Amino acid sequence: MSASGMSETNEGGQERKPSRMALPQRSNPGAAPGGGQSYREIAERMKKVQEEQRLVVERMRQIPYKVAVLSAKGGVGKSFVTASLAMALAMMGKVVGVFDADFHGPSMPLMLGLSQVKGLLARDDGSIVPAVNVYGVRLVSVGLMLPSEEAPVIWRGSLKTTAIRQLLAYTDWEGAEYLLIDLPPGTGDEQLTIAQTIPGLTGFLLVTIPSDVSKVVVKKAAAFAQKLNVPLLGIVENMSYFRCPDGSVQYIFGKGAAEEIAKEFNVPLLGQIPIDPRIREATDAGVPFFLEYPDSEAAKVFLEMARRFVEVVESKGGKSNKGANGSEES
Ligand SMILES: Nc1ncnc2c1ncn2[C@@H]1O[C@H](COP(=O)(O)OP(=O)(O)OP(=O)(O)O)[C@@H](O)[C@H]1O
Ligand SMILES: [Mg+2]
Repeated sequence: MSASGMSETNEGGQERKPSRMALPQRSNPGAAPGGGQSYREIAERMKKVQEEQRLVVERMRQIPYKVAVLSAKGGVGKSFVTASLAMALAMMGKVVGVFDADFHGPSMPLMLGLSQVKGLLARDDGSIVPAVNVYGVRLVSVGLMLPSEEAPVIWRGSLKTTAIRQLLAYTDWEGAEYLLIDLPPGTGDEQLTIAQTIPGLTGFLLVTIPSDVSKVVVKKAAAFAQKLNVPLLGIVENMSYFRCPDGSVQYIFGKGAAEEIAKEFNVPLLGQIPIDPRIREATDAGVPFFLEYPDSEAAKVFLEMARRFVEVVESKGGKSNKGANGSEES
């Protein structure tokens, strides 16, 4: 949908109509919480929430593998891992959708090369059509609905929960086999909502860097997943080391943290990705760094990580698991 509410045109000249679904708004910003609402209004609202949750269950049932990328720590490379993994999976022939659940700092449009897209298409039946990048990755992000990249989203937790539920209820992922969810840092509203709203969430993929401070925070994320009974699929250690031009290795953020977390939480360490400035350049340009620099060590390590990720995820057989809300796929 276009935040401006006007029809817009994307790069290919395709008309983008405003979605029927508006970004959630406070019904009466001036009113005290719950003030002035009749029982009927409250009952109607609850009915709508139930109907949306039913739609979420229906849509999510059609996607075999749903993985949220989690790290309680900011800036460790969650979004880089999500975007690059999505494109690597697409190149392996998988149909991939990405849901950007980072409303305050949505980076998926940029990292997937879709920052030019303004607004999302909606069909007559009200379903939202994701934007699709040149590698075939489908994306839904609040970032695609904002009037500019700098426009802030100022939402409280309840509004974010509503937005996640509605976007998942109305988006038609068009045959996606994988849904990757990019989460903001922390273990708050978005993480909880994703875990509780998506039935049969295959699991969380943990991302960390080797620093002690990151280790402590990422352990919290792992404990959070366990508490919610969501499987931990694996851990990716990013920025693990830097290989100097003379071939020597510098452990800039320390060493051994991911191994420790993997052991403690009994999750596979899927890969240790080095620091490579070309990763930042490529992700900022919305192109997969492993295609730009296929001979780089980072590319080789990343693609091996992606292969192991697929192995782990698909070993789950696309079966349902109980969501924290107790709902279950059939
Ligand atoms: N291995 C790496 N080598 C070099 N740069 C990297 C590497 N991994 C990520 N980066 C860069 O580091 C920056 C932060 O990464 P990213 O935005 O993916 O982190 P994040 O965990 O999603 O952050 P946030 O918590 O704010 O969502 C980006 O500019 C990204 O391109
Ligand atoms: Mg991010």
